[in-house]
Amino acid sequence: MDFQALATPAGGLGGVAADALLVVLPAEGQASTGDKAIDGAVAAALKSGDFERKAGRQLYLHRVEGVKARVLLASAKDGSAKAFRAAVVQGLGALKGRAVRHLAVALAGAPLSAAHAEALAVAVEGAGYSYTHTKPSAETVAMPTKVSLVADKAQTAELRAGLAQGAAIGAGVNLAREYANRPANVCTPTFLGDEAKRMGREFGFQVQVLDRKAVEKLGMGSFLSVARGSEEPLRFIVMQYNGAAKKAAPVVLVGKGITFDTGGISLKPAPEMDEMKFDMGGAASVFGTMRAIGQIKPKVNVVAIVPACENMPSGIATKPGDVVTSMSGQTIEILNTDAEGRLILCDALTYAERFKPAAVVDIATLTGACVIALGNHHAGLFSPDDALADELLAASRRAEDPAWRMPLDEEYDEALKSNFADMANVGSRAGGSITAAKFLQRFTKAYPWAHLDVAGVAYRGGANKGATGRPVGLLTHFVLARAGRG
Ligand code: BES
Ligand code: MN
Ligand code: ZN
Repeated sequence: MDFQALATPAGGLGGVAADALLVVLPAEGQASTGDKAIDGAVAAALKSGDFERKAGRQLYLHRVEGVKARVLLASAKDGSAKAFRAAVVQGLGALKGRAVRHLAVALAGAPLSAAHAEALAVAVEGAGYSYTHTKPSAETVAMPTKVSLVADKAQTAELRAGLAQGAAIGAGVNLAREYANRPANVCTPTFLGDEAKRMGREFGFQVQVLDRKAVEKLGMGSFLSVARGSEEPLRFIVMQYNGAAKKAAPVVLVGKGITFDTGGISLKPAPEMDEMKFDMGGAASVFGTMRAIGQIKPKVNVVAIVPACENMPSGIATKPGDVVTSMSGQTIEILNTDAEGRLILCDALTYAERFKPAAVVDIATLTGACVIALGNHHAGLFSPDDALADELLAASRRAEDPAWRMPLDEEYDEALKSNFADMANVGSRAGGSITAAKFLQRFTKAYPWAHLDVAGVAYRGGANKGATGRPVGLLTHFVLARAGRG
């Protein structure tokens, strides 16, 4: 997709030479676009009742006297970037099938910012995505080939940067969606490892893909205990992006890469078990973030770590009550083999120590309890480090990728007591997302650490079943801020 920032023609918006002009009108404030012909059409449409200034309302005007492009009016809740993004998504829907190659977009009566430009590009990239890998017959969306954001000439440089950032984030989100959407017999640990190598070649990352032998050598007894029941070979994937001086401490992103979670011997019930192909959503978001970073090239070092395997029952699978030794040396009594995410992450978190990280953030579809607590809107954010938590919340707001901070008081840690090991892998049902985070925390003493539980936000179930690509936006903004690009 070709994104451009276009200076408003001297005669006004009507002079924009595009196939269609999407005019976003906030529901409140001045409705003026500064173009006489368009303002006249808007006033007439409002008067006749054909158009209303209410979020979600639209009106397509095939021909407006004195306006070169066909015009789509779309009302937004307000002038914010978030409302602008929603109006653009709706606008693109309304333009489907109207043969628009060059789409111009303008915001009336409210100031544009780089955040609006970013939101536009993210929305356009997202609207262009459709899943076809195992469904070639799926209807693909005919998208414009060029999208221009129309604004004052003085603003075009700023907006151009916003568009480029949004295009990179959008591509990262789509990559994350694609990996997560692919079924577990396609998106295997081996596939993810091969994709990491491919991305390494495309973006110049250093990539290491470890197999079972190498993982055994590292002493990752916890990770190995999860992979044990599966015939599908595990992978331990490391990608490094070097955008800053070699000695600069990196940000480390750790993504849960369970390519299918049956629950293991603690088998899950059949209904909706297919959705456990999305259990590598954390890993997918790490891949997507690396793609965005590879395109934006910020001045910061980033390491991505993805432990990837299946969680399957079998004759040699790990059994409830089995005790394993993690890479850290701490022993774990596995009371429930369905609490496998923390078992693969804990060894990855120990491995992360070797990079002497400035910060480590893990991302995981970790607990159903987090979905109960926060639903499908906010991701759960856990961190003992207030400054790091605040940084992630700020990134969350900038990306319009909601996250909500959850507690980590030491009182929750007691639930993990075991009579047979240093800790159990589950507590009781109460506070399940918190005890999961407390488990991880025991492996993160060497660096500032945060955990994002994305079980409720990484994918949707039901009729619109599919991956969302979250939290690529949040993570990318977090990394950019670390590079001084807040
Ligand atoms: N992958 C699941 C968590 C999950 C549940 C993600 C629902 C998305 C939607 C995880 O591995 C799991 O099974 N967690 C258990 C933990 C329990 C056994 C302590 C859970 O949430 O039930
Ligand atoms: Mn599980
Ligand atoms: Zn899982």
